[in-house]
Amino acid sequence: MSDLKFDTLTIHAGAQPDPTTKARATPIYQTTSFVFDNVDHAASLFNLQEFGNIYTRIGNPTCAVLEDRIAALEGGTAALAVGSGHAAQVIVFHTLLEPGDEFIASKQLYGGSINQFGHAFKKFGWEVKWVDGGDPASFKSAVSPKTKAIFTESIANPGGIVVDLAGISSVAKDAGIPLIVDNTLATPALCRPFEHGADIIVHSATKFLGGHGNSIGGLIVDGGSFDWSAGGKYPTLSEPCASYHGVKLHETFGPIAFAIACRTLGLRDLGPALSPFNAYLIATGMETLSLRMARHCENAQKLAEHLSGHDKVTWVSYAGLPKDPHHKLAQKISPGGAGAVFTFGVKGGYEAGVSLVNSVELFSHLANVGDTRSLIIHPASTTHRQLSEEQAAAAGAGPDVVRVSVGLEDPDDIIADLDAALSKI
Ligand SMILES: Cc1ncc(COP(=O)(O)O)c(C=O)c1O
Repeated sequence: MSDLKFDTLTIHAGAQPDPTTKARATPIYQTTSFVFDNVDHAASLFNLQEFGNIYTRIGNPTCAVLEDRIAALEGGTAALAVGSGHAAQVIVFHTLLEPGDEFIASKQLYGGSINQFGHAFKKFGWEVKWVDGGDPASFKSAVSPKTKAIFTESIANPGGIVVDLAGISSVAKDAGIPLIVDNTLATPALCRPFEHGADIIVHSATKFLGGHGNSIGGLIVDGGSFDWSAGGKYPTLSEPCASYHGVKLHETFGPIAFAIACRTLGLRDLGPALSPFNAYLIATGMETLSLRMARHCENAQKLAEHLSGHDKVTWVSYAGLPKDPHHKLAQKISPGGAGAVFTFGVKGGYEAGVSLVNSVELFSHLANVGDTRSLIIHPASTTHRQLSEEQAAAAGAGPDVVRVSVGLEDPDDIIADLDAALSKI
């Protein structure tokens, strides 16, 4: 079977009936390790001369289904499943950067990524330069000889802001560096970043991919077309690898070299493996990705329209609204819809935001997005409280901001719950 359409791939990519038992659903291979045929077989696996299972920290057949499925849905050459979205980011940068290197990142990111890049990464000697994610020119002005990558979200958390991926990609191409896109909020059902010039995609599979709020996981997808050997900027990929008998990963593995490096060096040595059980839950969730994303977007659109006319609401930032400044770009970058995470401002600022999240009943007040259930948070008092006031405002998390992740319930119930809570402010 070839050239299967997207909705078919969400169900079938990566999975076949189990060759031994004929089980139709993907089995959970809950094992730490795999038996070698003989010493020669073991040697060829350890030498990267043959692909196969060794130890679940490096790879596992249930995780492989998830990897092949996301690679197919994003249009990449290969993928790697890891323990969380944050682990995916650590492994990507560990593969690309040396101590003293820099990368450029949009200021409009998930608050945890702002912390990871700005604080934790400093200990590795990796320096982030923050720029305005809405302006490709600000990425260009931040490029220096030490810059090794650009990072942005496609639809940015928490604001639901849509990013000009093609504009940023042309800055990356001019500088000879890869564009990494976090496609968590959009998922490939709405936006396919490789079609807009991305080189690497990362996901928090914890969110809409898994979709049911039950498993933490992360994914890295290799776009397969970046030339890692040009210019000598990426020695992990282009130079002889000391821990694999001098093999040059890019020369040996070509379009899947980045995914191989992330697995055989990043995941093997840093260790944030995904459990096979979580891989099973996430891959199962992905089977309904298109259906869920369409309904998420429909419900979000109805709620955003309702809130736009509400007298307790000062503004709504949702690219699905025709008056939104990101509306046109959203139709181009994210043709499947503007997503289901957006922010709005409540009259009365910080106190009103706190009152609202304390009063909801159907919405769950928690720090996650991309569940079947509708979720709400007041970022200034929770996810973004570690940031300075200036950083929080730049990330779209000022004192009056409330973020919702609109679930799959009946839209009338979603709207009625927020109306009731707003009336109590
Ligand atoms: C856009 C985005 N990227 C990355 C992450 C980190 O993912 P994880 O929590 O799976 O580590 C999150 C988590 O909320 C997120 O929303």
